[in-house]
Amino acid sequence: MSRRGKITVVGAGFYGSTTAQRLAEYDIFDEVVLTDIVEGKPEGLALDMSQSRPVEGFETQVTGQTTGPDGEGYEAIAGSGIVIITAGLPRKPGMSRMDLIGVNAKIVRSVTEQVVKHAPEAVLIVVSNPLDEMTALAAKVSDFPSHRVMGQAGMLDTARFTNFVAERLGVPVHSVRTLTLGSHGDTMVPVPSACTVNGAPLADLLSPAEIEQLVDRTRNGGGEIVALLKTGSAYYAPSAAAARMARAVAEDAGTVMPVCTWVDGEYDISGVYLGVEAEIGATGVRRVVERDLTESELASLRVAAEAVRAKQEDVASL
Ligand code: NAI
Ligand code: 2OP
Repeated sequence: MSRRGKITVVGAGFYGSTTAQRLAEYDIFDEVVLTDIVEGKPEGLALDMSQSRPVEGFETQVTGQTTGPDGEGYEAIAGSGIVIITAGLPRKPGMSRMDLIGVNAKIVRSVTEQVVKHAPEAVLIVVSNPLDEMTALAAKVSDFPSHRVMGQAGMLDTARFTNFVAERLGVPVHSVRTLTLGSHGDTMVPVPSACTVNGAPLADLLSPAEIEQLVDRTRNGGGEIVALLKTGSAYYAPSAAAARMARAVAEDAGTVMPVCTWVDGEYDISGVYLGVEAEIGATGVRRVVERDLTESELASLRVAAEAVRAKQEDVASL
């Protein structure tokens, strides 16, 4: 089988390591590189993943590389077609994603500078929180064309919404379609009008109050898991989401996915990184896909855009 180049995951914590594992198990890349600043951690995890190759039956090479404060070790990512940035602190119970902004902005800035130096042609997928602000920061620091910088949030939030609907109705997850737009935070916009079960509108199956309950749980989906774990945040569903985005880029798939991307006039919103649906291919975001929203969904999307716009302007100076 022909494999498609090299992909790097920066940050070998829970999110980064599970993402690297999923990417390696797809068996579509020549090499997955995993980096971290903790001496030996990425090398150890890469060695462990490599030893799963005979059992899982994949040939992708997994390489671990510790990086230093002045960018030592970053040569290992040279030639990567895709770089996923997971470096940064996760939340603790009681924290909002926004509480991470100061510390994670410094990390994402320094990582992005190294990516620009060593993998200047890469498509960047950002996952560090607060997601919408870190994506905007990576775009600004990299100065890459906006289609080559996107953030992962909508795939995860939509997956959570779908899972909750499927559990509530006792149906297979593959029969459910849901959607979330907006920010990966308080102004997340679950879109009930786009939700169907076996093609039937969700509104035919659940009352408005029941739908609102699922919408609320989706909006608080990350916090629910942080409160249970007590240290750290979710990573199985988040890594599945980021890995699928990377796969769509690697395969030039043209899949329409909810992602955080630059919005330039769609929904009458401009000049902001925001969660919307987009067609993903080899160049990153091929185009934003607009759909009909109800008036209240559209109003919520505009509120989300203004909320993240203000923060994205602040983050540029961090
Ligand atoms: P973690 O604490 O397990 O791992 C973070 C890793 O980043 C650590 O290994 C740390 O050493 C590394 N790191 C710190 N500074 C670095 C640098 N300059 N270069 C390279 N590596 C560096 O945290 P976890 O669970 O992996 O989460 C990572 C980030 O992803 C957090 O900010 C979290 O909030 C975010 N996240 C985002 C989601 C989304 O949907 N966008 C979902 C879940 C988590
Ligand atoms: C999540 O939604 C914490 O952003 C992370 O799980």
